[in-house]
Amino acid sequence: NQNIRILAVETSCDETAAAVLVDGTQILSNVVATQIDLHIQFGGVFPEMASRQHILTIYPVVESALNQAHLSLDELDALAVTRGPGLAGSLVVGMNMAKALALGSGLPLIGVNHLEGHLYSAWIQVDKDTPANPPDFPLIALIVSGGHSNLMLMKDHLQYELLGSTLDDAAGEAFDKVARLLSLPYPGGPSIQKAAEKGNPTAFNFPRARLEGTWNFSFSGLKTAVLREVRAFQEMGKTVPVEDMAASFQAAVVDVLVEKAFMAAEQYGAHHIVVAGGVSANSGLRKALTEQNRFEVHIPPLKFCTDNAAMIAAAGYQRYAHGFSDKLDMDVLPSWAL
Ligand code: KG4
Ligand code: ZN
Repeated sequence: NQNIRILAVETSCDETAAAVLVDGTQILSNVVATQIDLHIQFGGVFPEMASRQHILTIYPVVESALNQAHLSLDELDALAVTRGPGLAGSLVVGMNMAKALALGSGLPLIGVNHLEGHLYSAWIQVDKDTPANPPDFPLIALIVSGGHSNLMLMKDHLQYELLGSTLDDAAGEAFDKVARLLSLPYPGGPSIQKAAEKGNPTAFNFPRARLEGTWNFSFSGLKTAVLREVRAFQEMGKTVPVEDMAASFQAAVVDVLVEKAFMAAEQYGAHHIVVAGGVSANSGLRKALTEQNRFEVHIPPLKFCTDNAAMIAAAGYQRYAHGFSDKLDMDVLPSWAL
């Protein structure tokens, strides 16, 4: 630990965020301005409105991240910014802000993969009084967000071996689409979780696509099965049992994610499992992952599961510590694979 202070900026989707961390673990500030109220009327993220909102919000968010950390730019060691994957127009706003800060301060600038950020959120200290409990290698990483469902093997820092990913919808995307089928509000994940808490997870026996012999996922068949049930109720003129359907859908997603993560950990001799990304906020998934004592499962606290800049600073720190930095002519990479 060298007392490295990094300011990070994140604008890959619909949250404008900035944070300052020490050594990628200790939070000095973590500011997130969400655009949920703006996009709720469209039932999803409206890309052009997202970038224009980032333009309005990015400077105040960065300024308050520095103010809350009681630091000025010249007291920092580096800047980190999400380079991709994400919405191009949104990424560009954060990237240009970060380049301007780098140009004005002379600080090194580090482009970070958003998924790498989600992963490194597991290294952030939960709070000041709780000692850090960093995951150990080799580990199995499950990143489940709105755009990705990746199962990976990590043998060391910044080394990712992709074991499997989704063949169709990402886990979070499935939550969002099924929420829409059930007429639940955006963002779908939290809405499904809320409805599921009042429902019976065994009311419907929805399919679990196990895709034996591969580490891949598939959630589109599950989504279609929910659609078929919804239509059946509508055709009979009956009210759709939204809570039971939400609970049964969530149980099907959780079963597959947990089974695959545990099987991979077993097979690759990994004692530690990291689960991160928006879907890792799901209470059903968190419960299923921690109801055993074979593996040490690291799930970030809720505020670091969904998009934030603290995770970008955490990943940026690892890249900085390993000698990486980027040039000021770097482009954003909207479909950057990890
Ligand atoms: O990581 P994230 O904030 O943004 C991306 O990088 O995509 O993930 C957003 C996704 C959305 O699909 C959202 O519905 C889902 O995470 N999500 C949840 C929950 N909270 C957010 N899914 C299930 N349960 C939740 N509690
Ligand atoms: Zn994300």
